[in-house]
Amino acid sequence: MQNVIKHQIKDLLKERNAVLLAHNYMRDEVQEIADITGDSLALSIEAAKTEADVIVFCGVHFMAESAAILSPQKKVLLPRPDAGCPMADMVTAAELELLKSRHPGVPVVTYVNSSAEVKAHSDICCTSANALKVVQSLSEDELIFVPDRNLGRWIAKFVPQKKFIFWEGFCPTHERMTVAAVLQKKSEHPDALFICHPESAPAVSDLADHVCSTSGMYDYCRKSQAAKFIIGTEAGIIYKLRLENPTKEFILASPALFCPNMKLTSLEDILLSLQNLEPVISVPEDIRLKAKGALDRMLAIPRD
Ligand code: 13P
Ligand code: SF4
Repeated sequence: MQNVIKHQIKDLLKERNAVLLAHNYMRDEVQEIADITGDSLALSIEAAKTEADVIVFCGVHFMAESAAILSPQKKVLLPRPDAGCPMADMVTAAELELLKSRHPGVPVVTYVNSSAEVKAHSDICCTSANALKVVQSLSEDELIFVPDRNLGRWIAKFVPQKKFIFWEGFCPTHERMTVAAVLQKKSEHPDALFICHPESAPAVSDLADHVCSTSGMYDYCRKSQAAKFIIGTEAGIIYKLRLENPTKEFILASPALFCPNMKLTSLEDILLSLQNLEPVISVPEDIRLKAKGALDRMLAIPRD
C-alpha cells in the first residue's frame, strides 16, 4: 500500500512541478521520498532557490512559514498545518517588543524556530548550524537571543566578550533527555561517542563529545573514525545516519527523544495535500517583508 502512495506522490510532484522538502526528523518513509532532506538552514536555502512552483514542506509550521517568506511567488504547502513547534510558541511579537523596550538599541537574534511575526521584530535570524557565526557577525557587545535558552547559552560560551539577554524558551523534546538517561547509555556503551543537539539542557550538552545541528551530526558521524554513537536529538535522525553509515552503530540517548509534531505528517497527508494543493501557508506582506530582512541577513553569512 505504501508503495502505491509513494508512486502517486512522485507522479503528482512531477505534474505539479513541486519539490518535496523534509526535515531530518520526519518519519522514515517521508524522508525516503523527499527530494531534499536537511536541517532548518539547508531547507531555508533550498526554499529560497528552488525553481519549483510548489513547495511541499514536510516539517513544522515555522519551517513552511520561512519558505513562504523567502519564496512568496511559490505555493507553500504544509500537509499537516497542526504540526507546530512548542518552542516557537513560547515567545510572541508583543513579548519581544516589551523586552526590546527594556534594552533599547540592543540587536535581536532570533532562532528560526519562531513565528514570522517574531522574526519581523528581529534584526537577524539564526539556525543551530550558524548561530555562532550570526552572533559573531554583530558588531554590538550585547544582544537579545530568543527563544531558545539552551542554544543561546551554548553559543554564549564561545563568545565570552558578548553579553546575552536570554529568553527562557526551550524545546520540550530535547529537554526530556535527562542527564540520568545519557549516563545510563554511556555506561551501557562505554566505547561510544555522545553527540547532542544544542537545544539540549546545558547539563546534557556538558556530557557530549560533540554538540551540533542535525546536519552537523551527519557530517561528524560520516567523518569520525568511531564505530558507535549515542545520539542526543530527535529519533528521526537515526534513519539517514544508519543509511549513510551501514557499518556504524547508532543508539538513541533517550526514548523520550520523540517530537510528536515532527511525526504527524504521513504519506497520506502528503498525497492529499498535493491533490488539493492545500493547506497553503502564507504570511501577510508587511510581516513577510520585515521577517525576510532578518532571514536574508542570516543567509548572507557565508557557510563553511
Ligand atoms: P536543526 O535541524 O536546524 O538542527 O533544528 C532542529 C530542530 O529542532 C528543528 O525543529
Ligand atoms: Fe520544536 Fe523541538 Fe519539535 Fe524541533 S524538536 S519542532 S524545536 S518541539
